[in-house]
Amino acid sequence: MTYSIKYWAVVPAAGVGKRMNADRPKQYLPLLDKTVIEHTLMRLLKADVFSAVAVAISEEDPYWPELDIASNEKVITAAGGKERADSVLSALKAIRTLASDDDWVLVHDAARPCITTIDIIHLINSLKTDDVGGILALSSHDTLKNVQGDFIVETLDRRHIWRALTPQMFRYGLLKSALEAAEGNPAITDEASALELKGLQPKIVEGRPDNIKITRPEDLALAQFYMEHQND
Ligand code: CTP
Ligand code: MG
Repeated sequence: MTYSIKYWAVVPAAGVGKRMNADRPKQYLPLLDKTVIEHTLMRLLKADVFSAVAVAISEEDPYWPELDIASNEKVITAAGGKERADSVLSALKAIRTLASDDDWVLVHDAARPCITTIDIIHLINSLKTDDVGGILALSSHDTLKNVQGDFIVETLDRRHIWRALTPQMFRYGLLKSALEAAEGNPAITDEASALELKGLQPKIVEGRPDNIKITRPEDLALAQFYMEHQND
């Protein structure tokens, strides 16, 4: 019997959104006709490549069960964790009986609702024959400074600096073992950093600049602007 490689989406959505300073976690704030997380999940489902989407949700979250998408047949709910990496690991464990070690997992922030099918397919096509995997990223247009206190100590070589976005795409088995090995390490702020800690070198795939992360209040208006101008 031949086994064909599957694709899984993992969505960490158990953060509190401190920097957003709103009355609820930012993934539940309204954006056009839906909440932020509904946009994110619908766009992942619309790409039509994932066997399922595993979403990590905080145990104290009263908003999630109210959403229709929580009972979508392709959506699996997992418990959230203390840090983002703990939430991702929990979602990976929730699909462990379904996924094979060689399957691909695309981890995507709930707080990035402007993700396009174009970027998802571009990431998959760029990495599907790769051994390690990689991430969507953006180069920096600004000149970048290394600062100590209030003083610039050097100007960085911009050609070597990229901003890490999501999705980040790795093999199920490798990603799970890398996150398990890195558990409790505060330096692991994305999936790629867990693989880097293993001595591996994830690839960079240039993403679209409209794939923003909603972090501060002004980002909602920007996300709305992008959504109104995307034809995806
Ligand atoms: N996340 C998570 N579990 C955590 C922390 C974060 O699943 N313990 C998720 C968030 O819900 C978000 C993604 O990871 O979708 C990216 O994190 P970030 O933008 O930092 O979100 P928050 O941690 O919620 O925001 P803040 O850092 O401002 O509190
Ligand atoms: Mg955070």
